[in-house]
Amino acid sequence: MKYYIETYGCQMNVSDSELIISILNDAGYEQASDIDTADILLFNTCSVREHAEQRVLGRISNERHRKKSKPELKIALLGCMAQRIGERLISEDLGIDYAVGVDQYRALPHLLEQAQGSLLKFNSYENYEHLLPVHQGENCAFVTIMRGCDNYCSYCIVPYVRGRERSRPYEDILLDVRAAVARNMMDVTLLGQNVNSYHWKDLSFPALLVRLQEDVPELYRLRFVTSHPKDLSDELVQVMGKGGKLCEHIHLPMQSGSNESLKRMNRSYSYEQYLNRVKALRKAVPGIGITTDLIAGFPGETQEQFEATLSAMREIEFDYAFCFKYSEREGTAAAQYPDQLPEAIRLSRLQKMIDLQREITLRKFRAKIGKEVEVYVEGFSKKSKSQVSGKTRDFKIAVLTGDESKIGTLVKVKVSQATAGTLICE
Ligand code: 5AD
Ligand code: SF4
Repeated sequence: MKYYIETYGCQMNVSDSELIISILNDAGYEQASDIDTADILLFNTCSVREHAEQRVLGRISNERHRKKSKPELKIALLGCMAQRIGERLISEDLGIDYAVGVDQYRALPHLLEQAQGSLLKFNSYENYEHLLPVHQGENCAFVTIMRGCDNYCSYCIVPYVRGRERSRPYEDILLDVRAAVARNMMDVTLLGQNVNSYHWKDLSFPALLVRLQEDVPELYRLRFVTSHPKDLSDELVQVMGKGGKLCEHIHLPMQSGSNESLKRMNRSYSYEQYLNRVKALRKAVPGIGITTDLIAGFPGETQEQFEATLSAMREIEFDYAFCFKYSEREGTAAAQYPDQLPEAIRLSRLQKMIDLQREITLRKFRAKIGKEVEVYVEGFSKKSKSQVSGKTRDFKIAVLTGDESKIGTLVKVKVSQATAGTLICE
């Protein structure tokens, strides 16, 4: 039996798909590289915003015609969306045969022996221990270190669909990182919804970073996502300050620059505290790239509160910001707030944020012109086969002239031009 898997959403889902592949391969299934040859289509889905859910439903509706010429073809919905509304979606006539939630992947082969069904129970102990994921990337590896989230930010569906926070045993993480390095994957990213609260036995997150660097000397670049500002300790800042394999980059979602909004978002920090973390990081790690997530049009956000976010963006000057239009998620606290904003306001604020960040990013990228950067070449550039692209240590996309022989290598190059998103190097 051949399966084809499509992954949506965050890196955590990419990492989960690698686990699912491992589970299915161990059970004797074979991964199809081409959707036409598959007997089972798996969609590993995201629920964080409504748009993500609509996209998957659109994809499934586009692919279900295949069942006409191949009646035995099965479609499985996995991940956050399955967890959230899988039961309902199976009962509707959408062509979905199975729904499997985030803690039930071990039982997936068993379920596939049945004609249809769902597995959606939470299991707050499930860490997929002793399972080695099948890394799908060529050069960059993603290694899950913790699952779930206990923060309950008022807008966010994640705690409801991914369950309680739990940390993965160090031995498993070590095996995973060693496997990645053995395949010459030089850029390793540790993953979790809130990596700073990693805790396994007496191993904290900063201690994990130190230990991994000692235990895997061949490791070249080490990164992590995502950090919650409230848990970003001085100890972590110090460990980052030591450099070594740890890259000069942090993704630190701010969400808003207004204290009132932050409070209603249940983020547990003020703008001043956030700024304090940014300053500590910039002092300890000169040249650190700081990226963020921002939400536009959160319920009750006044014009003044929105402008506080814009001025925070100007003050901090993020290297890049992922800006999102607020999306109501059923069951979250913010979806119950009385003052939901009209779509037009959400959209226009989002656009203002994007425009401002574009300017800032362009300025920050241009400041790199003339400087030497180290690029880890990951593949051909999107635009041309005579150019390759990769990332700098501070998480900027860089393109340079080169052919296939450069892929998978580290090069030192000089930045000659910059756009709001790409460094062009020589
Ligand atoms: N609406 C808009 N953006 C959201 N995010 C999470 N939930 C929502 C929502 N309901 C954003 C946050 C988070 C990122 C992964 O997605 O900015 O950091
Ligand atoms: Fe969602 Fe907040 Fe947890 Fe991030 S920290 S996953 S935004 S609840």
